[in-house]
Amino acid sequence: MSSSTTPPSSPFLPGPGPHPETGPPPPPPRTAAVIPAAGRGVRLGPGAPKALRTLNGTPMLVHAVRAMARSRAVSLVVVVAPPDGAAEVRTLLDDHALPSTTEVAVVPGGSTRQESVSLGLAALPADITDVLVHDAARPLVPAETVDAVAAAVRGGAPAVVPALPLADTVKEVDPRTDGGPETVLGTPERARLRAVQTPQGFNRETLARAHEKAAPEGEGATDDAGLVERLGLPVVVVPGHEEAFKVTRPLDLVLAEAVLARRRATDGF
Ligand code: C5P
Repeated sequence: MSSSTTPPSSPFLPGPGPHPETGPPPPPPRTAAVIPAAGRGVRLGPGAPKALRTLNGTPMLVHAVRAMARSRAVSLVVVVAPPDGAAEVRTLLDDHALPSTTEVAVVPGGSTRQESVSLGLAALPADITDVLVHDAARPLVPAETVDAVAAAVRGGAPAVVPALPLADTVKEVDPRTDGGPETVLGTPERARLRAVQTPQGFNRETLARAHEKAAPEGEGATDDAGLVERLGLPVVVVPGHEEAFKVTRPLDLVLAEAVLARRRATDGF
């Protein structure tokens, strides 16, 4: 058979069957979300681990799992629990209604976010081709943002981040820990900066390679796309969403509850 008779194919779409020269077609895409939720959340003040704090009576983690499961692209959610809290997190999830179409697994995490994500990746079944990594601390990300990230990965991008332009001007400083005044080193051009959110989406192999390479370097990156950048691979941006903000400080809890109240008022959600 001449190659001109072979229909065009995408590496992310099921092909017409085994090709005589290139072997079997690639597997159909299957997307999992990994939710690192093992942080203590010290900046929120004393209390339960951040992911287990409630928003309108429901733990932040449950909101985050629902946000991932609401995307039709996501068929599996892996929650990375505090190292000594996997059983507690499993019980908590079992006590809340979650979409029955999405499988939810729980694994124990590590001492850094990077380690927690690596442990989540290691727990993925072999047929997962694409991975979204989503902070439990961003419980209100809308489904449209999750869908946009998943679609860009299925479209062939090795790494995708949702991001927004900045409202504040950003200064680079010489950091001090003694409370003294810090010296400004420079002012990056604001128009070229973006605030990056999650879920960040990846071709699974790319993300696994990025984590393997990063592991010996210790503390590492504050986001997963940063590890892919270190491999020299392209990372692309899709529009983020203002409701995908990270709950970090006490005021963020107030804002998150206000967003939930607005959703309930506007669409009964
Ligand atoms: O500390 P930060 O806000 O950057 O944490 C981002 C996310 O990483 C949170 O959802 C937190 O639970 C998670 N994390 C983790 N394991 C750690 C530290 C943070 O899963 N050891």
